[in-house]
Amino acid sequence: MNPDAVTSLAGTFAALYGAAPDAYFAAPGRVNLIGEHTDYNEGFVLPFAIDRVATIAIKLQETGGVRRLRVASTQGGPVVEAAFDGLVPESVAPWARYVAGVFWALEQQGLPMPGADVLLDSSVPIGAGLSSSAAIECAVGLALNTQLGLGLSREELVLICQRAENDFIGAPTGILDQSASLLGTAEHALFLDCRSREAVHVQLPLEAADLALLVIDTRVSHAHDSGGYKELVAACTRGAQELGVPALRDVGIERLVEAQQVLAPQIYRRVKHIVTENQRVLDTVELLGARGPAVIGPLLTASHVSMRDDFGISCDELDLAVDTAMAAGALGARMTGGGFGGSAIALIPAARADDVSAAVREAFARAHYLAPEIFSVIPGPGARQL
Ligand code: GLA
Repeated sequence: MNPDAVTSLAGTFAALYGAAPDAYFAAPGRVNLIGEHTDYNEGFVLPFAIDRVATIAIKLQETGGVRRLRVASTQGGPVVEAAFDGLVPESVAPWARYVAGVFWALEQQGLPMPGADVLLDSSVPIGAGLSSSAAIECAVGLALNTQLGLGLSREELVLICQRAENDFIGAPTGILDQSASLLGTAEHALFLDCRSREAVHVQLPLEAADLALLVIDTRVSHAHDSGGYKELVAACTRGAQELGVPALRDVGIERLVEAQQVLAPQIYRRVKHIVTENQRVLDTVELLGARGPAVIGPLLTASHVSMRDDFGISCDELDLAVDTAMAAGALGARMTGGGFGGSAIALIPAARADDVSAAVREAFARAHYLAPEIFSVIPGPGARQL
């Protein structure tokens, strides 16, 4: 973040709370290159932290008084204020739960929290499937860990932030988003085994290969604390149970024929996506290492087809974005994130960025869809103190 932005945050903080913040922290959103809905099936994912961040200014309350949490956003709206004791999600506005939930999760862990004043700013578009919520959680988690000297590792913070999301916000998500935000590094994707939680940084030299990664935000927004996501988690759990394995991670491609015979058609298609997607992640990592990013396009597109036809989480806008990008010269394209809206990504030769963007905009206009937001991203650094 540039110094001007920090100065502006400091000014707004002082105007709201009548004092200067103690510190500033930033945590990125993410793009998931490939490996969708595999995280809660204990499989593989390959996200990267993007160069768009949630930033917080924070001041911890002195110990002694009644603990209270105040949260404000640079997007405006009133300061959200909640008494800390007996904090429940309903005590705060939905957007402020991503802040409050991390205080709550740390307390649940047996770590007493002070009250605090927090001001939030973000350049991660909301509802675009780029984990704007995890970015806030991770900025807050890192801030509390650092300012209170809790000594938690980043891997432990991932689980704290996931707990905030699962048990305070109520979205049964995996560890994909928080891992990308806290463990991501510039110029690399994060190859994560969601069972062992082993993470390997895989080079993603887009610029050196004259490539760009476009995000096409369809502006159809999604929410993971609503029905669709929960239903997918339940279908995967059922598929694993019926196949007699702890998680779908344990089902290899070779078992799909048998799976088709024993599972109900809808459960089978979901299982098929997870099983084939895990293999695509492994293939992508192998190809990246052997030949670089220019050759992974077909795997990205195959992942989209699998989400569209088998997992059933795409939508017309995402399909149009992917099909149009491909027709305009993308090497591969897919929806990214939880689905039901949000963003598609397109891997393109850098020189074609304008043409691909124009083609997608035109196609959306012709279909009378909202104008998409299109921008390129690069793998940026993970969460940090500013
Ligand atoms: C959301 C969840 C993640 C993951 C993705 C789908 O982003 O937060 O845990 O399940 O959807 O891959």
